[in-house]
Amino acid sequence: MASFQEKDILRALTRVIDPDLHRDIVSLGMVEDIRISGNDVSFTLVLTTPACPIKEQMQQACQEAAGSVPGVDSVAVEVISRVPANRVGANRAPIIGVRNTIAVGSGKGGVGKSTVAVNLALALAQDGARVGLLDADIYGPNVPLMLGITDKPQPQNGKILPVEKYGLKVMSMGFFVEADSPVMWRGPMLAKMLQQFLYDVEWGEIDYLVLDLPPGTGDVQITLAQQMPLTGALIVSTPQEVALMDATRALNMFVKLDVPILGMVENMSYFLAPNGDKLPIFGHGGAKDAAERLGVPFLGEVPLDQRIREGSDSGSPIVLTDEQGSNSVAFHHISRGLAAQVSMLALN
Ligand SMILES: Nc1ncnc2c1ncn2[C@@H]1O[C@H](COP(=O)(O)OP(=O)(O)O)[C@@H](O)[C@H]1O
Ligand SMILES: [Mg+2]
Repeated sequence: MASFQEKDILRALTRVIDPDLHRDIVSLGMVEDIRISGNDVSFTLVLTTPACPIKEQMQQACQEAAGSVPGVDSVAVEVISRVPANRVGANRAPIIGVRNTIAVGSGKGGVGKSTVAVNLALALAQDGARVGLLDADIYGPNVPLMLGITDKPQPQNGKILPVEKYGLKVMSMGFFVEADSPVMWRGPMLAKMLQQFLYDVEWGEIDYLVLDLPPGTGDVQITLAQQMPLTGALIVSTPQEVALMDATRALNMFVKLDVPILGMVENMSYFLAPNGDKLPIFGHGGAKDAAERLGVPFLGEVPLDQRIREGSDSGSPIVLTDEQGSNSVAFHHISRGLAAQVSMLALN
């Protein structure tokens, strides 16, 4: 018989605070399945995302806290994750199986929104999340090219199966723009089209559905923000003033329509010359300043790098082809920050 009980372990674990959620892991319900066998303790730590930047530290902290209980000989912590579903606004039907939808928007076209959306989706998947990517740029769908997809989605039981590539489930208008597109996709109404992309696609179990939006504040964005179940929006901007002005406009549209802002990203933040020099072609730091001014999280920056463009054009995104490189590190930093924002939102 051990000299300690489950409640002693739990009490010790209340000292472990989740740094993003600012609460202890016990009251957050992150500790499960405590087992005591002799003087050995084991339990499961359930994180809110597999893209947790501090998985190892959390595990270590648990280990130490439980190990500090008098009488405990050994502690085994199994770390798993379960991404919580965010509530969606009133009058919006949730998408079955889809826990979170993240709209990636920008003020202007050409700032790298699709590039960022694609690489972030892949980065989340690399961390073990189940990720969907919906190319909602109805008029200029680039995602199939960026992911090198040549397959077409197939119908199944009255629904449509997304195309799977690099571990992502993908849907895009680009799959249907040829002459033989099925009638159901020809509907003249944009809202109907978006609705079909969200609700008539067999997404399956998805932690994060990333939506690559068209630029600006047009019909697609307004329809999505007003009628569809969006968890939040991520705004991509380049550093210069004109781009930031438009990004701010896009951001304010989401705010007006009650869509939470998950954060801002600065793309083409500086030019990474082949010799390693960082040149501020479009300026540098503008998006960070804007985020501070607007009171939204700044999630990180991505340099202007020829290899990123080449990856997008060739259908082999940089986070896949250069997994250890600085660009991948940058995208992972952003995707993990984004996942943390989604987790925080679920807590409110
Ligand atoms: N960080 C970057 N470095 C180099 N090229 C980039 C970067 N981000 C985007 N690009 C390139 O810029 C062009 C526009 O990017 P894209 O993602 O299509 O922008 P948007 O979706 O905002 O219109 C593409 O050719 C893309 O490969
Ligand atoms: Mg685009």
